[in-house]
Amino acid sequence: MSQLTLALSKGRILEDSLPMLDRLGLAPAGDIDRLLRVPSRDPNLHFLIIRPSDVPTYVEHGAADLGIVGKDVLMEHGGEALYEPMDLDIAKCRLSIAAVKGSPFAVAGGAATIRRRVRVATKYPEITRRYFAARGEQVEIIKLYGSMELAPLVGLADLIVDLVATGNTLKANGLVETEVICQVSSRVVVNKASMKMKHAALRDLLGRLQTLDQAA
Ligand code: ATP
Ligand code: PRP
Repeated sequence: MSQLTLALSKGRILEDSLPMLDRLGLAPAGDIDRLLRVPSRDPNLHFLIIRPSDVPTYVEHGAADLGIVGKDVLMEHGGEALYEPMDLDIAKCRLSIAAVKGSPFAVAGGAATIRRRVRVATKYPEITRRYFAARGEQVEIIKLYGSMELAPLVGLADLIVDLVATGNTLKANGLVETEVICQVSSRVVVNKASMKMKHAALRDLLGRLQTLDQAA
């Protein structure tokens, strides 16, 4: 059987993947907090534990045969070069637009009523540009790497595009969700060449992951 390399997004997705991998007898067999390349309990599989936004790049270039990554990251990266055979239904949230409660931006489509260039802070510049462009709005995008909720509170932006799950972070910061751009969950992505060259091993692994889906 071919050896497979799986790029696993560290952080929340890694945490949510571990019980699933454990049930399949595929859990990492090493120190996942320190090692970047970790063996699995299955001798035919090992993991690369990397930043979520790097997963599509590793899989696209064949440094990993497959990966587990959020749909948000895939949409931002552009997923055309990858197969996306499975929705794992973990790390679920949504990508939304939010604004300061009570501000002119706090209603759906509020940005279109403002007579100056609207500023949107986000970690997702491509998704944001495409979303506003699709309805004929050109916005100024301010790229941030975290704590997006702060930007409208200190006048850095009028709106944010960020992930929302419970809505608690928005609420705690006096923001309201005005539009949902898309629903987000974690996906399995596969390198196209690996799908041909390591077909049997990948079919076996994807089949095992699928059984969990059916058992859920
Ligand atoms: P990086 O270190 O690259 O900035 P990150 O801090 O965004 O990564 P996490 O917060 O662990 O990493 O999020 C990884 C993925 O988990 C996101 O891409 C998204 O798919 C999902 N996610 C993020 N926030 C939530 C949330 N509040 N609830 C559920 N899933 C989430
Ligand atoms: C994510 C996201 C929001 C929060 C939403 O942040 O960026 O801030 O979760 O979750 P909620 O709706 O349940 O409150 P995370 O905790 O990953 O921190 P980060 O922004 O520093 O990555």
